[in-house]
Amino acid sequence: MSGFTVSLVSWHDGEPLLRAIREAVFMREQGVSAELEWDGLDAECRHALAITHSGDAIGCGRILQNGRIGHVGRIAVLPKWRKQKVGTALMEALLNEARSRHYNWVDVDAQTYAIPFYHTFGFAEYGEEFLDAGMPHKKMKLVPR
Ligand SMILES: CC(C)(COP(=O)(O)OP(=O)(O)OC[C@H]1O[C@@H](n2cnc3c(N)ncnc32)[C@H](O)[C@@H]1OP(=O)(O)O)[C@@H](O)C(=O)NCCC(=O)NCCS
Repeated sequence: MSGFTVSLVSWHDGEPLLRAIREAVFMREQGVSAELEWDGLDAECRHALAITHSGDAIGCGRILQNGRIGHVGRIAVLPKWRKQKVGTALMEALLNEARSRHYNWVDVDAQTYAIPFYHTFGFAEYGEEFLDAGMPHKKMKLVPR
C-alpha cells in the first residue's frame, strides 16, 4: 500500500472527506445513528485528516476545546488501513495541537476494545464503564507533554 499524510483541517475545509470516513466507520460499520454521529460540535473542532498519496481519505479524528481541556474523539480509520499506524499519526497530530494550545489535559471516551490503542500514547483510564451509542466506553485522560 502507498503512504499517507495527516493534516489538521477545519470542518469548513474538510467536511465532505471527514463525513465520508465517519459514515463508513461509525454509521455503517458500527451502527451509530445519524443523530448521535452529527452532534453539532464539528464546526468548533479542529480535525485531523489522513490522505493517501493517491488522494484517498482514509482516516480522521477531532479535538474539541473545553476551557483548558481538549476532548479527542471520532478517531476512525477505514478497515483496510488499520494496523498500519494511521490512527497513531492522527492522534499525534491532535496531541500536537493540544500541546500548542497548552491544554492542561486531554481526555477521550474510549470504546473499551480500543483502550490499548490509547494506552500507546500514555492515556490512563478513570471512572466507571458506561454505554454510548450502545457500546461500552471508559473515560481516559493524558497530560500532553
Ligand atoms: C481504533 C482505531 C482508530 C486504531 O487505528 P489504527 O490505525 O489501526 O491504529 P494503529 O495502527 O496506529 O495502532 C497503534 C497501536 O494501537 C494498538 N491498537 C490498535 N488497534 C487496536 C485494537 N483493535 N485492539 C487492541 N489494540 C489496538 C496496538 O498496540 C497498535 O500497535 P501495533 O499495531 O504495533 O500492535 C481503528 O481500529 C478504528 O478506526 N476503529 C473503528 C473506529 C473506532 O472504534 N474508533 C475509536 C473510538 S473510541
